[in-house]
Amino acid sequence: MKKIRKAVFPVAGLGTRFLPATKASPKEMLPLVDKPMIQYVVEEAIASGIEEIILITGRGKNAIEDHFDNAIELEQLLKEKNKLEELKMIKDISDMCDFVYIRQKEPLGLGHAILRAKNAIGPEPFAVLLGDDIIYSDGVPALKQLITVYEETGSSVIAVEKIPRSKISSYGVVDTEWEKDDSCKIRGLVEKPAEDKAPSELAVIGRYILTPKIFELLENVERDKSGEIQLTAGLNELCALEDMYGCKFSGKRYDAGNKLGFLMATVEYGLRRKEFGDEFRNYIKALNL
Ligand code: UTP
Repeated sequence: MKKIRKAVFPVAGLGTRFLPATKASPKEMLPLVDKPMIQYVVEEAIASGIEEIILITGRGKNAIEDHFDNAIELEQLLKEKNKLEELKMIKDISDMCDFVYIRQKEPLGLGHAILRAKNAIGPEPFAVLLGDDIIYSDGVPALKQLITVYEETGSSVIAVEKIPRSKISSYGVVDTEWEKDDSCKIRGLVEKPAEDKAPSELAVIGRYILTPKIFELLENVERDKSGEIQLTAGLNELCALEDMYGCKFSGKRYDAGNKLGFLMATVEYGLRRKEFGDEFRNYIKALNL
């Protein structure tokens, strides 16, 4: 069985839910406490064994490339000021792994963004991580949990999470052949179903292991009404041809692509910080809410 070595990070979306912050800077660079969101997800990928990260970028996303590159002047300055801890911190970011950048010239959908990675991936199964979904885990990283299911089954795997029915219509939802405590077998997917039409309460979360068959399928799926290539359309065809599993990962997931979810993540990541977590907790408790 081929090892999962490469991961695709589609970051070419416009981030309209986060305007005006995203007018001139990428959503992925918004910090949770002091680290850009994208870095949390890159660290999850690396902790899961990923060796090469392919970022699908678009206009206005240069800050992401700069963030994972060397920062010669800053490094020099920190050296001169003897700020060695900070120096190590920023050098570690660029040394994390190999980064490859591919442009998606127009935001024509998540499926289209992933298709841009076809040549860079080649004939091997690969991971996809969406930077909006931040998953905190103090045990096995979420992507690693998916990779374990892939290693057991040799099939595509999608991260799924049980969501209350009242909220299910904001998600892609899986239709299952069977469901266990930690996994399920997927027979289809529905994008944003009405509450009473949802085939299950298991929502698709932004972590995937996909076989390379997905590229051929995405190339041929029908575009949606807005002319976009949707990943869900490709996944539906993939699970008609090959087995596909859902992984009910353990870990706390934040939908940091919208303002409320981002705020919740900020508070919780702040509370987890050793340096000021207690002081922050006391501050929140003392707020006269
Ligand atoms: P979303 O639609 O959730 O994110 O796409 P968005 O477009 O960035 O933000 P909103 O909805 O306008 O607020 C899910 C993921 O797919 C990527 C996005 O960057 C995000 O990580 N994406 C989406 C692309 O890379 N290209 C696209 O054409 C569309």
